Amino acid sequence: MSLTTEVSVSIEQQYAVTVGTNLWSEVGSFCKKHYTPEKLVIIIDEYVNSLHGERVHKECSELFNELEIIEIPRGETSKSISCWNKTLDAVLKSGIERKTPLLAVGGGVTGDIAGFVAATALRGIPLIHMPTSLLAMVDSSIGGKTGINHETGKNLIGSFYQPDAVFADVDYLETLSEKEWVNGLSEILKYAAISDPSLFELAYDCVSSGFQPGALWTKIIGQSAVIKSEIVSHDTLEAGERAFLNFGHTFGHALEKKAGYGTISHGEAVLVGMLAACKASNELGAEVPPEIFDDFLDLYSIQLEELTIPIDKVIEAMQHDKKVQNGNIRLVLLKDWGRPYLHTCTDERLLREAWNFAYRTINEN
Ligand SMILES: NC(=O)c1ccc[n+]([C@@H]2O[C@H](COP(=O)([O-])OP(=O)(O)OC[C@H]3O[C@@H](n4cnc5c(N)ncnc54)[C@H](O)[C@@H]3O)[C@@H](O)[C@H]2O)c1
Repeated sequence: MSLTTEVSVSIEQQYAVTVGTNLWSEVGSFCKKHYTPEKLVIIIDEYVNSLHGERVHKECSELFNELEIIEIPRGETSKSISCWNKTLDAVLKSGIERKTPLLAVGGGVTGDIAGFVAATALRGIPLIHMPTSLLAMVDSSIGGKTGINHETGKNLIGSFYQPDAVFADVDYLETLSEKEWVNGLSEILKYAAISDPSLFELAYDCVSSGFQPGALWTKIIGQSAVIKSEIVSHDTLEAGERAFLNFGHTFGHALEKKAGYGTISHGEAVLVGMLAACKASNELGAEVPPEIFDDFLDLYSIQLEELTIPIDKVIEAMQHDKKVQNGNIRLVLLKDWGRPYLHTCTDERLLREAWNFAYRTINEN
């Protein structure tokens, strides 16, 4: 006879995502309520530190007696085992305790590595995200995915580790380059496609208002954060609905990989991927005109002709995506705007048509 004990463990954790301007007073109230004032570890993108560090240090030193500030070199190469090792080393040697909070200040790279450091130091210390890029505000800081890259692929080492809070202060975007605004815009357009098509119009108004933080951008960042939060809170560990967030990404990742990371930005690749996914959706009976993206194409400087990546090669890369299941490519397609579904693709012709369409649209633009 076996003896079993059943316990119920709830892994659900709620946290607030605050989007707005001048959020330091909110950060202050939150920290005073949740942490003791001994010490704060700040992991910050070195470029962001050079632009905004003085303010960050000043505000945080009013809340904590001791600050341990660790800079992360900017760029994707920081999401490496060696950088994680070095950062974790510095965090541990600074004499943290289990309740010492860690504040991650930067774009998605900093958030991902700092999140993984928080998840692994002393089996988990409190984490607060302060995203500073548009992409990090609308996407990477929400949902608890943390991690680093491995030589065999992106984001292959990591964990799900939820922050205690996210403070997306749009004032940071004042210094963001146009290229990075456009990078984040792709994720906003993705939310428009999979969840709320009214965001297409709002995104157009935002872009027309220029790449400067203001009321319109604050509104669309807030609405995007709500969409991401709702999807991930229904499916924390990516067992179902969360996969819809990959709309355009299965195509896009393949393009990024074949072009060579850095040659084409993630946002550019996702935009091309969304054109392909719309075409595939329409081939299967939907009516989601990809022309909806036309208003935004000029913002992207994608030169597919120069990349000359044969369609056979990108299809091959799709077949090796880490999200392939039992050898089948799983595409997120649309029944209509705001109505995504998962399609197991066994028809190479469909992929070919989708890619042909996306390449043509970009090259004719
Ligand atoms: N965890 C997730 O769920 C998730 C989701 C999407 C993407 N990601 C990851 O996010 C990363 C991409 O994020 P990203 O696009 O923010 O990249 P990033 O962190 O490299 O930031 C992009 C650039 O913007 C600069 N920057 C950031 N904030 C700035 C500011 N306020 N002013 C001026 N410059 C600023 C950075 O120095 C960097 O050069 C990738 O590694 C990707 O895998 C993670």
